[in-house]
Amino acid sequence: MGKYQEVKLTHVAFIMDGNGRWAKRRGLPRHLGHKAGCERIIEIYEECLAQDIKVMSLYAFSTENWNRPKGEINHLFKYLEIFFKKEINRIVRDGAVVRTSGDLSRLPEKTQAIIADAKEKTKNNNKFYFNICLNYGGKAEIVRAAQGIAQDYKEGKFALEDITEDLFENYLYTAGLPPVDLLIRTSGELRTSNYMPWQLAYAEFIFPVTTWPDFTKEEFRKCIDEYYRRNRRFGGINDKES
Ligand code: IPE
Ligand code: IPE
Ligand code: MG
Repeated sequence: MGKYQEVKLTHVAFIMDGNGRWAKRRGLPRHLGHKAGCERIIEIYEECLAQDIKVMSLYAFSTENWNRPKGEINHLFKYLEIFFKKEINRIVRDGAVVRTSGDLSRLPEKTQAIIADAKEKTKNNNKFYFNICLNYGGKAEIVRAAQGIAQDYKEGKFALEDITEDLFENYLYTAGLPPVDLLIRTSGELRTSNYMPWQLAYAEFIFPVTTWPDFTKEEFRKCIDEYYRRNRRFGGINDKES
């Protein structure tokens, strides 16, 4: 065995995009695209478990999504509440942990309560991490980490030279989770829209044209196959090629 080996797919992140276009194509209001999108989550979650993936991150609401009409925002949070109410028992049984990334304090109180309950019920699990990103922005996350570090430095908890990449990671929402191996953004948009700039530093990217409500476990499996065909070099030389 050489030094460079296939890196097992441990953390997959999804930018669940295209709900609005899915609805529009069917002559439906945009919010029904979000309903269909929230109903897709569980199949992809189950496929993650079946594939022995350990962490799934989902971009569900960005710091920029507050620019949308209030009615659409409210519908989106309502469908996320329905998702958690319907699926929480299964998530608990699966041994999965519900984690969040983002500032939840701006979310509707009911949404906050349902998510707090899901976190509480799963806090002693350790088989899988379901990381849902809500009011999440990558730039905001990095600024928040910098503030936390500055505060702890001011309190004398560590010296300047102790501020390393490892220490920095402890101040991110994803503290303790491995970096993202694979990012999948549906709907054909070729950008990351402020998603996990730190955690994606060495991720592989796949951009299926399928809109999120049509994204199936079969298509997910094709993405996983594609991931294992990639050569992850991490700046080195991969002996698969030589
Ligand atoms: C993604 O679908 C869901 C969220 C951003 C919350 P969109 O609502 O962005 O769908 P499109 O991009 O308008 O089709
Ligand atoms: C990114 O999608 C955010 C989520 C999927 C939650 P958007 O649809 O909001 O991104 P832009 O506006 O097209 O970049
Ligand atoms: Mg979009």
